[in-house]
Amino acid sequence: MTEIAERLEELRDRGLHRRLRLIGGPQGPRVTLDGRQVLLLCSNDYLGLANHPKVRGAAAEAAMRWGAGAGASRLISGNMQPHSRLEKRLAAFKGYESALLFGSGYLANTGTIAALARDGEVVFSDELNHASIIDGCRLSRAETFVYRHGDVEHLAWGLRKAGDRAALIVTDGVFSMDGDIAPLAELAELAKRHGCRLMVDEAHATGAIGPGGRGSVAAAGLSGEVDVVMGTLGKALGSYGAYVCANRETTDYLLNTARSFVFSTALPPAVAAAGLAALELLQSQPDRVGRLATNARTLRNALAAEGLEVGEAGTHIVPLAVGDAGTAMNLCERILERGVFAQGIRPPTVPEGSSRLRFTVMSTHRREELERAAQLVGNAARELGLSADRSAVAQLAA
Ligand SMILES: Cc1ncc(COP(=O)(O)O)c(C=O)c1O
Repeated sequence: MTEIAERLEELRDRGLHRRLRLIGGPQGPRVTLDGRQVLLLCSNDYLGLANHPKVRGAAAEAAMRWGAGAGASRLISGNMQPHSRLEKRLAAFKGYESALLFGSGYLANTGTIAALARDGEVVFSDELNHASIIDGCRLSRAETFVYRHGDVEHLAWGLRKAGDRAALIVTDGVFSMDGDIAPLAELAELAKRHGCRLMVDEAHATGAIGPGGRGSVAAAGLSGEVDVVMGTLGKALGSYGAYVCANRETTDYLLNTARSFVFSTALPPAVAAAGLAALELLQSQPDRVGRLATNARTLRNALAAEGLEVGEAGTHIVPLAVGDAGTAMNLCERILERGVFAQGIRPPTVPEGSSRLRFTVMSTHRREELERAAQLVGNAARELGLSADRSAVAQLAA
């Protein structure tokens, strides 16, 4: 057996081996998965824009006009009108002076954090931050202080200890696997008091929460006050890529020093054009954001009525805690057999012992299908001994 084969075997033994599933068509509330129609409850295409005719049309048109690829990094010869148009529009939407596009959210986080926190400084990171933030901290060569999830007291203690070495606080706005929202007002206050920057990752917040879908920073009334707001185009905005909003000085600095910007090919122009079309749709049809919230409530309530614990957070990300990785995958397969697809999430995406199904709703789901899905999940969970008896829940509610 090769060493690689042994490592794969170990992953299998721990219930952590992953494989790809094949989606036969565009994203939507219902998709064909490995040849079967299923209800899709684990896409980040929250507003149903990835397959919107205007977004597809904009991508197709831009591909015909600008070609399939940008051909080079932005700083060499890959900077095109679709990039700069999208940057201007994103900055205005988020209430910032300037925006800078990156190839993906992963690249935006790693490049930006490593540029803003340097050797000898300290970066402060929530323990449940996304892997791309964790990797950005690792790349930065700064010391990383990981504070307990959402615990501003713990963070304040770390900041006091770091003194003038404190460079950057970084947090998910909406946490990707739990759906809860960071205590942004307190974080902004601490950043100000300790003279360090605050960076918020709005990957799951843009298009999903806040006024007109402007995100968690806008929802907290902190637009322009949070120093760096990162967001992605591959989730609610239905395309691919990411951006960082900040003042012009900061984006100019990132353009010069963020290695994942400098040394990486510009986004394909069609992808940027699709992102712009999606942003225009979000701004002209803000009711999509309201429908997303309504659908989230529907699913959450329907799962709770099945005796399932779905966490406190009220956003469109609805985690169903299972615990053990193997059991989470077992539940995932059982509901898939019944036509509902919500991927099991295991370590290292979530901490050991906190495997789960991560349900995400889309604004395009229908109420009845969400309620029906919750019943199917409830039945499967009961088969595995994971949820309270329905009659017991009904009695409690009475
Ligand atoms: C919170 C968060 N930040 C960053 C990313 C990375 O974004 P992208 O998929 O564009 O690389 C993700 C996506 O998975 C995410 O959930």
